[in-house]
Amino acid sequence: MCRPEFFAVEYAINPWMDPSAGADRDRAIAQWEALRQAYLDLGHTVDLIDPIEGLPDMVFAANGALVVDGRVYGAKFANAERAAEGPAYADWFRKAGFAEVIDPQHTNEGEGDFLTLDDFILAGTGFRTDIAAHKEAQEALGRPVITLQLVDPRFYHLDTALFPLDGHNVCYYPGAFSEGSRRVLESLFPDAVIAGHADAEVLGLNAVGDGRNVVINAEATALIEELGRRGYQVVPVDLSELRKAGGGPKCCTLEIRR
Ligand code: ARG
Repeated sequence: MCRPEFFAVEYAINPWMDPSAGADRDRAIAQWEALRQAYLDLGHTVDLIDPIEGLPDMVFAANGALVVDGRVYGAKFANAERAAEGPAYADWFRKAGFAEVIDPQHTNEGEGDFLTLDDFILAGTGFRTDIAAHKEAQEALGRPVITLQLVDPRFYHLDTALFPLDGHNVCYYPGAFSEGSRRVLESLFPDAVIAGHADAEVLGLNAVGDGRNVVINAEATALIEELGRRGYQVVPVDLSELRKAGGGPKCCTLEIRR
């Protein structure tokens, strides 16, 4: 995770961002601290990367890389405003002792558009990550990559529309996907939890599941109820200040799979 010490909404690279509306950095930091504490309370380890001045979106660590079986596939951002984050995250992994850090040729925003399941990786395209990066990630990581087409600019990253519940099942908002990709999801995940528009609109799909617990935006009330019915332990968090940049709990979290 990356503490939002330099967080701001200074430019608009997705429809959630309105630089004229402003964002309260202290509030963002307090909300982020609560998210970090929630992970610690669940027994997870949280490593931190130093925030860099001038990179207001660096708090969204999910975009920094994709780590599978200890191999790190680096990010190459679509927008110039965030370009410097790619090498910064790759450096962190090199310094942390990861032997295989792969510099990407193709544009991709890490776990924003790549979500890892036990047998394959789901990959979004349409707004940020280039479809060529899907092939590159598959070659780099040796796990099959399945392409999904995103069609709604408010759900510009795959992780704004879908999250893994465990290694085999997912929760998603069908409205974010093309018709063909919806059919792919229906056939891969007959038992998926399907979210409605209201929960998607509060970035309720930008959640983190570990098989048992789901850390999720508190405003996603219908989805929270459904997850509870399905037997998940739900941990609601308030990241409303970070949502002004188009991010939620998952965006703030890069999962390190060793
Ligand atoms: N403002 C950031 C951007 O548009 C938000 C990134 C959110 N991250 C994510 N994993 N969806 O790039």
